[in-house]
Amino acid sequence: MIIDQGNPEYLIRINMQTVDIADACISVLDHGFLFGDSIYEVVRTINGSLFAWDEHLRRLRNSAERLGYKLPWSDMELTLEIEKVVELAGWEEESYIRIIVTRGVGRIELSPETCDSPTLIVIAKKLPLVPDELYDKGIVLRLTEIRRNSRLAMDPAIKSGNYLNNVLAMIEAREKGADDAVMLNENGFLTESTTSNFFIVKDGVLKTPSLDCGILAGITREYLLDAVRRKGIPVEETELTVDDLGHADEVFITGTIKAIVPVRKVIGQVDWEGKPGVVTSRIREAYLEATGLG
Ligand code: PDD
Repeated sequence: MIIDQGNPEYLIRINMQTVDIADACISVLDHGFLFGDSIYEVVRTINGSLFAWDEHLRRLRNSAERLGYKLPWSDMELTLEIEKVVELAGWEEESYIRIIVTRGVGRIELSPETCDSPTLIVIAKKLPLVPDELYDKGIVLRLTEIRRNSRLAMDPAIKSGNYLNNVLAMIEAREKGADDAVMLNENGFLTESTTSNFFIVKDGVLKTPSLDCGILAGITREYLLDAVRRKGIPVEETELTVDDLGHADEVFITGTIKAIVPVRKVIGQVDWEGKPGVVTSRIREAYLEATGLG
């Protein structure tokens, strides 16, 4: 659905040292590898500058705190590191930057007591392109049998590197002919897509699952809600049911790389069909204007 610009060329740094892709390795004893004990962020540039960096840094710190990581780097050190990555990459295109922090190397036991220091990995590549056709035609989502992780188990608000819940949802979606998935929570309310937040439009009102439904607090979601409120479009952050989705006028998803992607069909426990609508395109314009992407 989203494609790399030619062969991906990577700029990789591990613990603030640039490494060739062939040498870009971490220890098999890193708990990030052993137990999926890691956190991450995906940041993009706009006109060569980091977009919403403060928000991404805040969310990274929040994920770290929720998992009890003690990050040895100051905000300034992390900021300079990511700015350096953009500078070293040096390509003309915009950058996609994935920042991963693992628990670090320790003994093969779940308790992180023996892990001395987190590992910082930064991978940059040219920003993948979302084909125009996708914005024009919209994508197909599957409302999966796989439920989103409970907030009481692996809280989706923590942007951890453990994406097995989302991987399973994506596998189900692809097997059933959809581009991506949307998941319910354990109480049967809508949550989010595998790497995107989820929105519907009904009678001119923009509706999206509230943070209490168990979702990632998407940075695109926040920017978009702000921009939309400023345009005077009514917004509800609420509990949404399968029935709400079945009767939606428009549906779309949001994320850092894809921005706003309309949905043309939802299959699975619901049979919804629509097309990229006028409210979605007004919202998209408001978002592009607010972020400088337009
Ligand atoms: N994913 N929900 C989930 C589960 C996500 O993984 C993401 C981001 C979002 C959207 O958040 P934001 O607007 O801050 O990008 C929602 C990133 C982009 C990824 O995994 O590639």
